[in-house]
Amino acid sequence: MAPTTLQITRRADLLPEAELAALQPILDDIERLKRQRNAVVAAHNYMTPDIYGAAADLTGDSLALAAMAKETEADVIVLAGVHFMAETAKIVNPTKTVLIPDERAGCSLAEGITGDDVRRLKAKYPGVPVVTYVNTTAEVKAETDICCTSGNAVAVVESLGVDRVIFLPDQYLGRYVASQTDVEVILWDGACMVHERFTGREIRNHKARLPGVSVIAHPECPPDVLAEADYVGSTNGIIRWVEDNQPEQVMMITECSMADNVALENPGVEFVRPCNLCPHMKRITLDNIKRSLETMTYEVDVAPDVAGRARRAVERMLEVGRRED
Ligand code: 13P
Ligand code: SF4
Repeated sequence: MAPTTLQITRRADLLPEAELAALQPILDDIERLKRQRNAVVAAHNYMTPDIYGAAADLTGDSLALAAMAKETEADVIVLAGVHFMAETAKIVNPTKTVLIPDERAGCSLAEGITGDDVRRLKAKYPGVPVVTYVNTTAEVKAETDICCTSGNAVAVVESLGVDRVIFLPDQYLGRYVASQTDVEVILWDGACMVHERFTGREIRNHKARLPGVSVIAHPECPPDVLAEADYVGSTNGIIRWVEDNQPEQVMMITECSMADNVALENPGVEFVRPCNLCPHMKRITLDNIKRSLETMTYEVDVAPDVAGRARRAVERMLEVGRRED
């Protein structure tokens, strides 16, 4: 096990015994390679249970992964998540080697906006601060005053003490923030390809069929979906809500692996599963995590001048910390 000051979150014992036995050879290989490389596997909450429960040393949402990357004492961080998460890890801790097991693990939000787009917006709204969701490239973060995640977006916007902000790039997270604050929010038209597919009608149909079901949604969902939710929050917020409330029956309106992972730890809760898969997150597998550690690929680098400017925006966000109900 690589030395780290951070809590080890591995929960292999929660996987079915037969599945764990079948996975043991590759898990042993990954453990051996981690020790050789002094590496940690940091996994997003959307990873499949074999990664989330058995191979990961650290798990969390985007905010937790950024904070963990800053603190870890390991030399190598294998980011089991998508590319912007690996870039953020490199931005906050540039001396580490950051690997992503599949370079194609992107994000529709990050792909929907460029640094030039941000520069044009700043010219159109001079003096208006730019708040950028971390689901963006380093180049976009570098043009930004402060970043945010779904775990602190409202608090970040309010921390600026201004009447108006430019909020990029997720129009739905931006609309959710606007619904929670008096600050005027100028939006971009980006969207998450996974969460924008849910509809309010679909959720209402499920609720009619399952009276009493609790509905929890990620704020990347459209407003008519969020209107049906009992709780709206980041993936860490969703996990905490289920742990604290132990609902009899719950629907998580987010990526499919969330329910699989949270179900492992909450055996008394019944999970109804309307969910959509993120094709980017699903590119990460135990096989390519192992290959990544063997071959030290794919290394994620950010040009120092871009990283320096982006670091200011990410660190400012980390100072605000997590703020969600
Ligand atoms: P969280 O920061 O809430 O984990 O969300 C990241 C993400 O990509 C959701 O689609
Ligand atoms: Fe990006 Fe959506 Fe996938 Fe999250 S779920 S990584 S926002 S495409």
